[in-house]
Amino acid sequence: MIHKSKLPNIETTIFSVMSSLANEYNALNLSQGYPNFKGDQKLFDLVTKAMNSGLNQYAHMAGNPDLRNAIAQKIELLYSTTYDPETEITVTVGATQAIYTTISTFIRQNDEVVVFRPAYDSYIPTIELNGGIPISVQLHTPDFKVNWDEVKGKINSKTKMIIINTPHNPSGTVFTKDDMLQLQELTRGTDIIVLSDEVYEHMIFDGEQHQSVCLFPDLKLRSFVVSSLGKSFHNTGWKIGYCCAPKDLMDEFKKLHQFNVFSVNHPTQKGIADYMEDPNSYLCLPDFFQRKRDLFLDSIKESRFKFKPSKGTYFQLLDYSDITDEYDLDFAKRLIVENGVASIPTSVFNEDKLDQKVLRFCFAKTDDTLIKAAQILNKL
Ligand SMILES: Cc1ncc(COP(=O)(O)O)c(C=O)c1O
Repeated sequence: MIHKSKLPNIETTIFSVMSSLANEYNALNLSQGYPNFKGDQKLFDLVTKAMNSGLNQYAHMAGNPDLRNAIAQKIELLYSTTYDPETEITVTVGATQAIYTTISTFIRQNDEVVVFRPAYDSYIPTIELNGGIPISVQLHTPDFKVNWDEVKGKINSKTKMIIINTPHNPSGTVFTKDDMLQLQELTRGTDIIVLSDEVYEHMIFDGEQHQSVCLFPDLKLRSFVVSSLGKSFHNTGWKIGYCCAPKDLMDEFKKLHQFNVFSVNHPTQKGIADYMEDPNSYLCLPDFFQRKRDLFLDSIKESRFKFKPSKGTYFQLLDYSDITDEYDLDFAKRLIVENGVASIPTSVFNEDKLDQKVLRFCFAKTDDTLIKAAQILNKL
């Protein structure tokens, strides 16, 4: 090719690789993070109604006003804090676009961005595309606990952003209040922006409270909160998310957003806004997913996999070190080809492809799929 690649080291995302292998071998697909069940018919009807009522032209650049109001109300109900729907909330094409645009808005050549590994796979390419330098903090099994002194040691005058993700994909761990207080102290008085990926905010278990950055007043001042309505309401293919930030930061974000996307699918926004009028639409999610997690874990309790129950997200890590010492990618491929179950090897999200001998399984699946997958895993 005569053109020099801007991302020479980037390969096809692991999600596409594992899903296409799963399709080829007709495997039970617990790899990619999406449900294999239908979302709520009421939501489909509301989106259809919005379409039939004529909301089919460009929405407002920041998002349909009803949806921005619904998001603001949800945040107020859950976290007792406010974002102005006029100026501090923008609807995006999935959380991915919110992440992309936030990084692109603020990261310049040689700016450093602290990233916790394993990290969702869009962060680092986006940082690099903007000339930034990802600074990794590797977390370790089984607790994936952050050592904040280590983070402190990586912060200097070039640090422009810290990306956090709680509940955390792929580990299923959550930041505690103490973690957030440490982050607040670390960034206090700096111009570091915190990009807080909270797409799994409604999938949190065992009575834990989600510790959003917006709960911490000083942190909120420097943070973008990113969430995903596609994920929350079981329709990842709709690609609809949002972000919230104080007005001065959001004004900058919108300068890019208006030329990157301009506006997001309109009837879907209105349908979701109407759906969210009933807070139960999101308040029911922790119990719904905890039941799935428990079913999956109960079904594999006699297996040779070791695990700590996921505290959030719809992912469960399983440690396979008692079964084989294969490299995780090799084992994950063999599980598909020989056994018919697809998962995600986590080394791809780690610094230097660190192999932690764990695979990630998505439990946002029908009970039937979870039970069938467990039966196979129990035989290994
Ligand atoms: C941590 C994390 N952030 C962002 C996303 C992307 O969300 P969306 O589909 O809304 O773009 C995902 C999807 O799996 C994710 O796991």
